[in-house]
Amino acid sequence: MKSLSKKQSLQSILAYHQKTKHHFQRYASGPDGLDWKHQPEAFRTFKGCTKLKLPLLKQATDVLYNDLYQDNKISPQALSIKNIAQLLELSLGLSAWKQYEENRWSLRCNPSSGNLHPTESYIIAENCEGVSKGVHHYVSRDHNLEQRCQFSNDEALLPNNCFLIGLSSIHWREAWKYGERAFRYCQLDAGHAIASIRYAAATLGWQAQVLTSASDAQIETILGINRDPDFNSAEREHSDVMLLITTHPKEQSNDLFSLKNIAEAAKSGQWFGQANILSSQHLDEWPIIADATVASVKSETDESSWQAPILPKLNMTSDRNSAHAASTLIKQRRSAQEFDSSHFTNRNLGNEKTVNEPSFTDKMLYRMLDLTLSRQNIPPMDSISWKPAIHLLLFVHHVEGIESGLYLFLRNDEVKSTFQTHLKQDFEWLKPISCPAHLPLFRLVSGDAREAAKTLSCHQEIARDGVLSFGLVAEYESNLADKPWVYRQLFWEAGILGQILYLEAESIHLRGTGIGCYFDDGVHELIGLVEDDHTFQSLYHFTIGKALTDNRLQTLPPYAHLQRSNLVRE
Ligand SMILES: Cc1cc2nc3c(=O)[nH]c(=O)nc-3n(C[C@H](O)[C@H](O)[C@H](O)COP(=O)(O)O)c2cc1C
Repeated sequence: MKSLSKKQSLQSILAYHQKTKHHFQRYASGPDGLDWKHQPEAFRTFKGCTKLKLPLLKQATDVLYNDLYQDNKISPQALSIKNIAQLLELSLGLSAWKQYEENRWSLRCNPSSGNLHPTESYIIAENCEGVSKGVHHYVSRDHNLEQRCQFSNDEALLPNNCFLIGLSSIHWREAWKYGERAFRYCQLDAGHAIASIRYAAATLGWQAQVLTSASDAQIETILGINRDPDFNSAEREHSDVMLLITTHPKEQSNDLFSLKNIAEAAKSGQWFGQANILSSQHLDEWPIIADATVASVKSETDESSWQAPILPKLNMTSDRNSAHAASTLIKQRRSAQEFDSSHFTNRNLGNEKTVNEPSFTDKMLYRMLDLTLSRQNIPPMDSISWKPAIHLLLFVHHVEGIESGLYLFLRNDEVKSTFQTHLKQDFEWLKPISCPAHLPLFRLVSGDAREAAKTLSCHQEIARDGVLSFGLVAEYESNLADKPWVYRQLFWEAGILGQILYLEAESIHLRGTGIGCYFDDGVHELIGLVEDDHTFQSLYHFTIGKALTDNRLQTLPPYAHLQRSNLVRE
């Protein structure tokens, strides 16, 4: 892989971002039509590995969704194959199959742009009963682990109460459909996967944290994704993150291992398996994605030392009418494709038919926003340890207790004056009266923001027809200046936020949808950022509303296709 100077990397990643913006008159470059004949295989597998079948959850967990947000509420479970299986099932495992006429496709606990699932995952285990020491690739369709590498037994690599999960992305999966913008979607999906893993770890009383010091070279070596002969002409995977999973509070096991040593063990380990080819032909290649990959490569750094501030405890009681098992909620998460636009309008008018159905109140909104703030030991924001850099622009359509309009929620209020300098000078900056003191939520302008939300989200009606929609706005230029690889981190942070919104929406009988298609500079123009001002950039959209279900689709259980057997060698 060619290497670039920091200046070249920065120019290249900024150029990638500019070139992959959607504009009102022109979308970012992508294929002319979909090449269905070469649609990528939905699952990566490695032929020639020992496969370890994982047990499935027999019933919903006793742990409630609300328990996940309370420090020390869930007793830490043992590090066993059963519990690793639970973590994988509830994060990256299948949640259902959908069928329409002849077509059948699977859904997973983690969402993905276009349901293309570029994210691959690996367990690096030692001292875990039932899982041999080495690197194992997770196949969600089969709920099994493929042993890619066996480490020698000479050296202890990990402390007793922890293991690692490595994530990588197959950029081709997204590029097949979305062309040049695909690199962004892979990063957003990785963010959703990080949060999914953190939530699933929390169901076991475990922690999960992105190792911010790791270099891409270390991750590639440990996951074996740099091994040319094992991939041959199969689509390559690119390093995302390494997560440390600890069964006990992280103070007890941090700093007790070295990724460098694990990378050495991987180099001298015994490797198995040949990656499958996902598409026999690629009609289009998108070289700009390879350029962005190179420009955002990360080298080894110190671990981030940012500490979350002490905040008031989360409100666990506001306006909520049911307690959900965490596993049920995680598995039922779906993206809405259409919202009932009349629901909230009718409620507001006191229409009898809808008045007893779900409402969306200011208190619900405040709790949702509160969950996006970083607190120690509260998932999923505690999975990353850098200073929050993504803020929420809200298009408020129907929130009981506050006026409709455009709002801004600052996840780090030090940035308020910078926003005030760069955004429209006539914005109001008014805090809603009912809003708790520690939540920096400001109304910028009141009014009906529905059509603006729809238009800016590539004319998608779901951004207009719900209770509210979001633009996730990054502190952009200042974060990249010295560290071009932070480009990827910003999208991960946005994806993690998206996952919070998905689960919170489900918990109040609403539904969310991530929106990767939006007109970048249209959003910037709305808030007053001029075209060449890159202080802030919008990186993701999200919407929440009352979903309409498509009754033409059949829903089938996720793992009915699996038969019982334990250890199989191909
Ligand atoms: C990063 C990202 C971007 C997405 N963009 C859109 C979008 O622009 N429009 C849309 O309708 N759905 C969008 N989705 C929703 C996906 O289509 C959905 O997650 C996928 O089909 C899987 O379905 P599920 O979320 O119900 O599991 C997006 C999801 C993600 C994670």
